[in-house]
Amino acid sequence: MNIHKRRIWDADGRCTSEQAYVSRRRFLGNAGVAVGGLTLSGVLGCDQKSSAEVARLASAEKALEASMNPQSGNAFVRGERNPRYTLDRPLTGEKAAATYNNFYEFTMSKHGVWRLAQSLKTHPWTIELAGEVKQPRTLDFDEIVKKLPSEERLYRLRCVEAWSMAVPWMGIPFKAFMDWVEPTSHAKYVRFVTFNRPKEAVGQAPGTAWNWPYFEGLTIAEAANELTLLATGIYGHALPKQHGAPVRMVLPWKYGYKSIKSLVKIEFVREKPHTFWNDAVPAEYGFYANVNPKKPHPRWSQATERMLETSGKRPTLPYNGYGEFVHDLYKGTPEAA
Ligand code: MTE
Repeated sequence: MNIHKRRIWDADGRCTSEQAYVSRRRFLGNAGVAVGGLTLSGVLGCDQKSSAEVARLASAEKALEASMNPQSGNAFVRGERNPRYTLDRPLTGEKAAATYNNFYEFTMSKHGVWRLAQSLKTHPWTIELAGEVKQPRTLDFDEIVKKLPSEERLYRLRCVEAWSMAVPWMGIPFKAFMDWVEPTSHAKYVRFVTFNRPKEAVGQAPGTAWNWPYFEGLTIAEAANELTLLATGIYGHALPKQHGAPVRMVLPWKYGYKSIKSLVKIEFVREKPHTFWNDAVPAEYGFYANVNPKKPHPRWSQATERMLETSGKRPTLPYNGYGEFVHDLYKGTPEAA
């Protein structure tokens, strides 16, 4: 999320000049140490590399590998890939996606999330089902996964900051979840909430700028749209913590901030709910947040996007290329892209 504040990494993460960074990457390549998408600015503190530093990098690489292969104990059910959802570009490499994240509960540094997020305890995990629903109750995450069908989908994800990725998610179509829990006829919106655990998530420590927990919302029609996914996995395994383990939303036609991570509450409500970013910076982040190349962010254009890993630029597509699935939801409204 790009916000108009001094970011932590302005102070600690960008101390390395581009040229120095490139030469360090070359050194690491020569040394046979694969660092993938890591920006180890703390480790890469000087130009002369000692064997201790190389060893530290190798150990960071191991930690990253471990973070991408979660051993959380959460249930994970693999499903077949649904061929209906196709991509117009290659998949983003797993490491690139796992080392460049937005998860402000841990840090505002995208390259720092994967490491800090490992302190989150994701098993056991429950979700409070509340509001206008047949039987409000506490759901065990493992029970949901075993009960409902999972499938794999290749989706693009476009962040409001103009970077994008294309990844294979595993998950439960949210419509199947709704059919199971049976919202009442009064339910007009769905509200989603993330954990609030300052002891596990350093970015939630008292005194930080944000009004935790993170919360999001959808209209009931958006929630029931076939694209809306309750994601439990990525790249063929359970979600790593940095991607929002054990369960998150994925809404590929909306800017990424709608795809709320690590859900602890799903509430069916009568009124339009408040949302985290809309409350924090209402002039910049709306409730609907449909990807729209013609609607610039107040501080930057949304006409193009930069793909993770390759940094290749592409023109932004209306609804991130998912118009055929969603344009009926917004026809004739200011939210149409
Ligand atoms: N969910 C929570 N709880 N906290 C966050 O900071 N960031 C959002 C979204 N979900 C965020 C969140 C934003 S801005 C983006 S772009 C996506 O997560 C990024 O998902 P990824 O890190 O898995 O690529």
